[in-house]
Amino acid sequence: MEEKLIDEKKQGELLVLEQKEGNQRKLFIESYGCQMNFSDSEIVASILAEQGYNTTENLEEADLVLVNTCSIRDKAEQTVRKRLEKYNAVKKINPNMKVGVLGCMAERLKSKFLKEEKIVDMVVGPDAYKDLPNLLKEVEEGRNAVNVILSKDETYGDISPVRLGGHGVTAFVSITRGCDNMCTFCVVPFTRGRERSRDPKSILEEVNDLAEKGYKEITLLDQNVDSYLWYGGGLKKDYKNASEIQRATATNFAQLLEMTAEAQPGMRIRFSTSNPQDMTEDVLHSMAKYDNICNYIHLPAQSGSTRILKEMNRQYTREEYFELIDRVREIIPDCAISQDIITGFSTETEEDHRDTLSLMDYVKYDFGFMFMYSERPGTPAARKLDDDVPAEIKKRRLIEIVDLQREHSAYRTQQFVGQTVEVLIEKESHKSEAQWSGRTQHNTVAVFPKEYYKVGDFVMVKIEDCTSATLLGNAVGYSKNNV
Ligand code: 5AD
Ligand code: SF4
Repeated sequence: MEEKLIDEKKQGELLVLEQKEGNQRKLFIESYGCQMNFSDSEIVASILAEQGYNTTENLEEADLVLVNTCSIRDKAEQTVRKRLEKYNAVKKINPNMKVGVLGCMAERLKSKFLKEEKIVDMVVGPDAYKDLPNLLKEVEEGRNAVNVILSKDETYGDISPVRLGGHGVTAFVSITRGCDNMCTFCVVPFTRGRERSRDPKSILEEVNDLAEKGYKEITLLDQNVDSYLWYGGGLKKDYKNASEIQRATATNFAQLLEMTAEAQPGMRIRFSTSNPQDMTEDVLHSMAKYDNICNYIHLPAQSGSTRILKEMNRQYTREEYFELIDRVREIIPDCAISQDIITGFSTETEEDHRDTLSLMDYVKYDFGFMFMYSERPGTPAARKLDDDVPAEIKKRRLIEIVDLQREHSAYRTQQFVGQTVEVLIEKESHKSEAQWSGRTQHNTVAVFPKEYYKVGDFVMVKIEDCTSATLLGNAVGYSKNNV
């Protein structure tokens, strides 16, 4: 099953950008993991464009190879290790090629990386990308370079990322970095540091700029969007020391969402990820108030068992999760909801597993992203608990969860058959050249014959049929939002 923030189809995707005239050197940059990494790679490419680097698709001709890495599960790290073997083979042909590791794995392993992977010249953590020009100088002079310092205030708000992903229609805008939640299974608080929010002014400038460039949909991006809080800069945890003025002029997530929706009424606004413990009702009211905020929430449950949730330090119970779902349904009756669930977390019993299945039955999620628990070194769970659920049991439980989700997805998708819904065209359908593929506001993929419509159009589509995850229909005209 594919994860929303970790899109399996995108893993290892190359970033190839417009060539800047005069740039002589060649950068090969690929990314793994969550959307945040893909966004960061755009920032890195933008910084390096100023240093004389143009991106290339051809590994063999690269002067510099960068891999933006993920540590969330062991499998993600193994994939990167395999890529390093490939780079090593190429380095034998092109010995001048330099290799840098970026992102969460760089942060987690720090200079150990240089020892473990002899091929690596440079290790750069997620908050140190502005130091890349200095680090590259070190490397050029024949020294290894490491910067894994996590920052209190780095948000890259002042760097405008160069983009080519999203077909010029959809883009991600990151609003916060780091995470303070300390879910016991999660490596993110260690690799991405403490939470700090980006100035709303720079967020709005980026959104307005994207609108000017013709983008039609943006997703405000963070590990934990609801925790967004701007009070003039600084860490979220230091808000308690903020002055009266800072408090009075602070911006929270619901306010940021409304400001964005108002700034660009012709754009669709999405956000991800929401965490149940931090989601507040004012966000639901903002969603209900603005038509251009999509009725869709990615709301990871992780488990349906209160006991396991406690072990995970999730800060909510099964009952509280249900209450939140009930509020969502009351305030936004047609809201699509998706989940992340971890199966086989330490100490999980069959009864806990059944609680997860029954939680899923209660919500009937539109989509889901499900994983077997992968113990991450150094996390609170790894220190305190035994990874005691055998692999075959984790696997069986995962299959049960995935099968149930498939049923629920099919049920949700079926509800759209017969309706006419707005679809934003993103690209050609990968199954047929004659069809467009886009998404509804609920984030469901819809395909339909192209006719005279084009990428970036908002089109009303009458849904005639569906598979478990895709709507099939015919366009009946432009949406009123099409300009
Ligand atoms: N093992 C398995 N899944 C994990 N996730 C986070 N850490 C782990 C882990 N150690 C999942 C969670 C999270 C998603 C991004 O990845 O479900 O919401
Ligand atoms: Fe990890 Fe929990 Fe933060 Fe998500 S909210 S990034 S799972 S610590």
